[in-house]
Amino acid sequence: MTINHPNFGVLADDRVIIFDTTLRDGEQSPGFSMNLQEKLRMAEALAELGVDVMEAGFPIASPGDFESVFEIAKAIKGPVICGLARTGRADIIRAGEAIAPAARRRIHTFISTSALHMKYKLRMSEEDVLAATTDSVTLARQYTDDVEWSAEDGSRTDPDFLCRCVEAAIRAGATTINIPDTVGYALPADMARIFTMVLERVPGADKIVLSTHNHNDLGLAVANTLAAVAAGVRQIECTINGIGERAGNASLEEVVMAIRTRPDAVPCKPNIVTQNILKTSRLLSTITGFDVQPNKAIVGRNAFAHESGIHQDGVLKNAATYEIMTPESVGWTKTNLVMGKHSGRAAFRDKLRALGYGEVGDNQLNDAFRRFKDLADRKKVVYDEDIVALVDDEVVRGHDRIRLVSLDVHSGSKTKPTATMELEIDGEAVSATETGDGPVDATFIAIRTLFPHEATLRLYSVGAVTEGTDAQAKVTVRLEEGGKMVDGQGSDTDTIVASARAYIHALNKLLVKRTRTEPAALSA
Ligand code: KIV
Ligand code: ZN
Repeated sequence: MTINHPNFGVLADDRVIIFDTTLRDGEQSPGFSMNLQEKLRMAEALAELGVDVMEAGFPIASPGDFESVFEIAKAIKGPVICGLARTGRADIIRAGEAIAPAARRRIHTFISTSALHMKYKLRMSEEDVLAATTDSVTLARQYTDDVEWSAEDGSRTDPDFLCRCVEAAIRAGATTINIPDTVGYALPADMARIFTMVLERVPGADKIVLSTHNHNDLGLAVANTLAAVAAGVRQIECTINGIGERAGNASLEEVVMAIRTRPDAVPCKPNIVTQNILKTSRLLSTITGFDVQPNKAIVGRNAFAHESGIHQDGVLKNAATYEIMTPESVGWTKTNLVMGKHSGRAAFRDKLRALGYGEVGDNQLNDAFRRFKDLADRKKVVYDEDIVALVDDEVVRGHDRIRLVSLDVHSGSKTKPTATMELEIDGEAVSATETGDGPVDATFIAIRTLFPHEATLRLYSVGAVTEGTDAQAKVTVRLEEGGKMVDGQGSDTDTIVASARAYIHALNKLLVKRTRTEPAALSA
């Protein structure tokens, strides 16, 4: 049966829609909050990656969330811009207003349908949920013809009731029906069975887009997604690096490359510019301060590294012996062009582009270039990892409220550790000198003096960006305030400076979090 979708027109039989929810499901998970500028930057990268739908946020969650969906809807051209809403009128109106500036827009409304959620979370009966489904979709259609309805905890919902809900949503005008595995409980065969059942039993299910949204609690999110596609689903919900509630969502890069690599088994075509995958993944890591693990499929540092002699020999003779896709197809470049103190601004700008920083403003470029020259004076070889680490503060974190201007630390076996620090807070320069039980302690006390706050330090860890004693230190600082946890990262050849940067990064993230009140009943 042909599907004629309001934003995508008549879907070709092999077309699969990529719905990215990095900025919503991903961003709502602990430690992953982004400020407006970071979200806009990420949204640009997602548009360049070619996602079909971008879930930009949950407008009712806070004025900041509303603003970011609204600004993304104004600025980003290409993808359909989507706002999330529960079924209440206020949620839907707020979502409708937030997406209004977008040329192509969607409201995504959801309600729990499992007996467990209805009884304990919603305290609603089946009839209440059916009525809320009809009312919310009907209202959403007043703002846009493109309305998605989700059955939260759908994979654990009674099959008969699930079919009744889907039917009600379609009758009310939903053009996409999403059945999430909210708690990551399903196995691939479950997802295939659920979608096959909906297609067989629900009138009109073959004329709308069915969508899959899988959490990774059992490590099965990608497998469940592929099983759903094989059963006839035409939209995949996923996130960059697989970020999302708890163990995360299906990772965009893994799902897309599985489909691209195995057209024999999954005969459909996502419209993703796969060469942009790596830089989009790196941008997200830079913004959030969370690196992917080295062995992460597609984007991990070791994803294409061949250590064993047998493998290296095979790859040199014919890469296909041990590589099922080319590194270049997902954005890895062959040469790791080494930069040094003789490299100029133009080469540095090119390098930033290649590393996924896009067009960098002149001021930010000057600051980053100054730090790069500083580093090149102190370090023999400057690797890509070094550049990624150092430009974070200048380029991606350029809109932070608190910025480190200078730090001078004195310590030693006979000296009381003392830190003299200058910060810029909302554009105003402030400075302080403090002593502590060690240089790091003195530094953190100085930050607390200059920017008083209640947050508790929960984790402090130091690693190295590359090898060697001249390597930059990469420090992670975890802060907790009022039950909210954030991680900050900072790097420098000086471990104490890296520590200060990490602490300040975490504080800036906490400031973003403070502006939020999480609405009740928002879950995975
Ligand atoms: O996991 C989930 O059920 C969700 C819904 C809001 C779609 O994220
Ligand atoms: Zn989810």
